[in-house]
Amino acid sequence: MTTDDARAGSSQNLRIGDTAPDFEARSTIGPVKLSGFRGRWLILFSHPADFTPVCTTEFVELARQAGEFKRRDCELMALSVDSLFSHFAWLRMIRDRFDIEVRFPIVEDPTLVIGRAFGMVAPQDSDSATVRTTFFIDPSGAIRAMTCYPANMGRSIPEMLRMLDALQAIDAESALAPANWQPGEPLLEQPTQNLDDVFKAGDGAAWFLREAGKGEKK
Ligand code: BEZ
Repeated sequence: MTTDDARAGSSQNLRIGDTAPDFEARSTIGPVKLSGFRGRWLILFSHPADFTPVCTTEFVELARQAGEFKRRDCELMALSVDSLFSHFAWLRMIRDRFDIEVRFPIVEDPTLVIGRAFGMVAPQDSDSATVRTTFFIDPSGAIRAMTCYPANMGRSIPEMLRMLDALQAIDAESALAPANWQPGEPLLEQPTQNLDDVFKAGDGAAWFLREAGKGEKK
């Protein structure tokens, strides 16, 4: 069961900064409503199918790292076209085989109404499998980052955590995260929009490239 919001939002043109389309659906932890997660970070991600090799490795790793997401006040929510009972059977297999319980919700989306609203499947696709799309949704419900991986390549869980850390750090510091940024490393200042600051910068100073709180980047 989905809301009109998700039904109406089948444009697949979601962009960074858009409000994530709301939906209500059955999941492995009971009914979930996306807007019910406001106030916390949420990572909503699709997987092609239950009982597939790459997806299984992703879920095992995500379950192992679940505490790291919780520590960052971030909930996880997975989604595929498979039925709730397929999700249950897969999670039972994962528990029995890998000794780990997947406790974050996995949504069933048999009609693809949610997957289409989020652009996880193309409307013209004959194959109903959702690709590995990941949406980082902030506490206000805004989409802050998106990634899309092919079915035959698994996501990096450390990279998901790094993206979350970077998004939270740039919000906290009103700063910018440089290439390869890792938690604990310096952020960058927003570039000035004032010509006087440009002319005031010392000789050879990269006026547009400064560590946050420190001035010029060395
Ligand atoms: C996998 O998760 O292993 C997978 C899913 C769909 C297509 C190919 C591989």
